[in-house]
Amino acid sequence: MRIFSGIQPSGIPTLGNYLGAIRNWVALQEGNECLWCIVDLHAITVWQDPKLLPQQIREMAATLLACGIDPGRHILFVQSAVRGHAQLAWIFNCIARLGWLNRMTQFKDKAGKDREAASTGLYVYPNLMAADIHAYHAMGVPVGDDQRQHLELANDIGEKFNHDYGVEFFPRIEPLILGPAARVMSLRDGAKKMSKSDPSDQSRINLNDDPDTIALKIRRARTDPEPLPSEPEGLEGRPEARNLVGIYAALAGSDVPGVLREHGGKGFSAFKEVLATLMIEILSPIAAETRRTLADPASLDVLLRDGAARARAIADPIVREVERLVGLFPA
Ligand code: AMP
Ligand code: TRP
Repeated sequence: MRIFSGIQPSGIPTLGNYLGAIRNWVALQEGNECLWCIVDLHAITVWQDPKLLPQQIREMAATLLACGIDPGRHILFVQSAVRGHAQLAWIFNCIARLGWLNRMTQFKDKAGKDREAASTGLYVYPNLMAADIHAYHAMGVPVGDDQRQHLELANDIGEKFNHDYGVEFFPRIEPLILGPAARVMSLRDGAKKMSKSDPSDQSRINLNDDPDTIALKIRRARTDPEPLPSEPEGLEGRPEARNLVGIYAALAGSDVPGVLREHGGKGFSAFKEVLATLMIEILSPIAAETRRTLADPASLDVLLRDGAARARAIADPIVREVERLVGLFPA
């Protein structure tokens, strides 16, 4: 199956990105043809400092490589380097309906109270995301739970395009939402998702945090005074507890019932200690490898340019065919 996924270079990737997305990407590389995209056009839907953005893109690329993304057998590239994404997104702006976009909960979250001040790019963000996927006829899309609604929209766009132009051109996309940590929550507030753009650094684990920082953030993570339950039902109404158990399960390659069987009855200070130890064991080598890769930015740039050339070879003919179907004048 051809697989596509994207991640925004809007900061240091978090444990949420790792458990909800990147780790699943690495596993899917076995037996599939994968495209991994650093989506800078999506990142600029909110302000990004132009002096920092290129380095953020390199940091994201280096982190993905350190996590096990294989740029030889698969394709790792930067979105803006393949012009077809923006071209197809424009056509999709003309397919998607205002009513569809008005239902997108992420826009409401990100635009906040002052919706009038949000960029129009933020509003049509899901159309660009649909273009990312459909430009490759990708059929599997691994994402965290927060992207489910956007993938439904991408299917609605593909279907309406097929219907309007009387073709069977875009295939249906299958969301791949995998593992016990498809939705990692903030360490400070169990109702908010962990995010690289949260103003509080204490709310998240960054993939480049050092061991002391990780240990401290876990120790300070919000919990309740009850000990861990022995059954999943005991986590109901306890979002912070559920979050830490889910994180532990994902890191240990286990599931929530398994973790509770092993650690049920423990107090949180003891559980946090084993959680921090496991997290440091897994994340420290990733941080070290990321630093090594970043020491040679020229090689990284070559690798990303090579990826973009290989991505273009797939996307260009598909986007050209869309232009023909729509009746745009042949270039
Ligand atoms: P983003 O950081 O918004 O570019 O997201 C990149 C990928 O990470 C997407 O597949 C998201 O669904 C996933 N992701 C981001 N934050 C979380 C989170 N807190 N928990 C699980 N997955 C996440
Ligand atoms: N919108 C996604 C996010 O913020 C990132 C993304 C952009 C993406 N294009 C994509 C994910 C295409 C999957 C497929 O998480």
